[in-house]
Amino acid sequence: MDTRSELQATIKAMVQPGKGLLAADESGPTIAKRFKTIGLESSEENRRAYRNLLLTTPGLGEFVSGVILYEETLGQKADDGTPFPQLAAKNGIVPGIKVDLGKIALALAPGDEITEGLDGLARRFVDYKRQGARFAKWRAVYNITASLPSRLAIEANADSLARYAAISQEAGIVPIVEPEVLMDGEHTIERSAEVTEAVLHAVFHALHRHRVVLEHILLKPSMVIAGSEHAQQSSTADIAAYTVRVLKRTVPSAVPGIVFLSGGQSPEEATANLDAMNRLGALPWNLSFSYGRALQEPPLQAWKGERSHVEQAQQALLKRARLNSAAALGKYEAAQEKS
Ligand code: 13P
Repeated sequence: MDTRSELQATIKAMVQPGKGLLAADESGPTIAKRFKTIGLESSEENRRAYRNLLLTTPGLGEFVSGVILYEETLGQKADDGTPFPQLAAKNGIVPGIKVDLGKIALALAPGDEITEGLDGLARRFVDYKRQGARFAKWRAVYNITASLPSRLAIEANADSLARYAAISQEAGIVPIVEPEVLMDGEHTIERSAEVTEAVLHAVFHALHRHRVVLEHILLKPSMVIAGSEHAQQSSTADIAAYTVRVLKRTVPSAVPGIVFLSGGQSPEEATANLDAMNRLGALPWNLSFSYGRALQEPPLQAWKGERSHVEQAQQALLKRARLNSAAALGKYEAAQEKS
């Protein structure tokens, strides 16, 4: 298959009405932080057992069309010996891989950050593809204060995201472009909207300069929301209205799908906000989820590292997946009644 048809086929498998993505690509330090909340050591076997639990959840493929894995997981095997990427594919879930190498301080720009990982990326894609990955993810992070992010951080991260996306597409791998405007801080929802609009505008300008084909990307943005330390927390209606307005101003309709990150929202909030956006009327893109914490917190807390809790944890994951699937169709309320 030529590269273009390959990208098209992957997009088609990933963007389906009422389906979203499971972000299970926590890096070593991040999964250790999550395991600490259940008092579990982050050993290679515990990480494998946990990802095994997630990926063997019966029926997950009904609500989830793709899973983002971390490099280590891409090379690990399920209990029955099937490599995780093959197991996902067998269940109708497209396997993908987080390819950025994390963020560091942006030089000469105090408070701003930049994501690393472009050097050697084209070579790394050869192996990832051989292991079964069909899409990739790169996360850029923006901190909000009265003066941050700087113009420099917005431009530098946009350029890195676009370079990554171009390298991915050349390899026949669908890039998920993830600019995350953090919700940490005291800022208002208006300030979040202003920063998100500037960030997305720069990202799409850079994607154009780097010749990225918009029909073959997915955007993974944060929602527009007041800072978690702001006195007045945003209502679901405000989050939905501000987020959709910013997206309409900045994201061309050629982009097939927008899949949100949850960014520290509770599982219920993340679902309700997605649902509210999908009830605002016809939108040019498929609006769905690519949640990490908002899908995984309930199963992680149910599991607690105990073999005997696996089934209960899988039920907890399936419930969030089902409700988010309903929210992706604007049908959360009806689905809640059934649960
Ligand atoms: P959260 O939904 O927990 O924000 O994670 C999504 C993700 O992939 C972050 O990079």
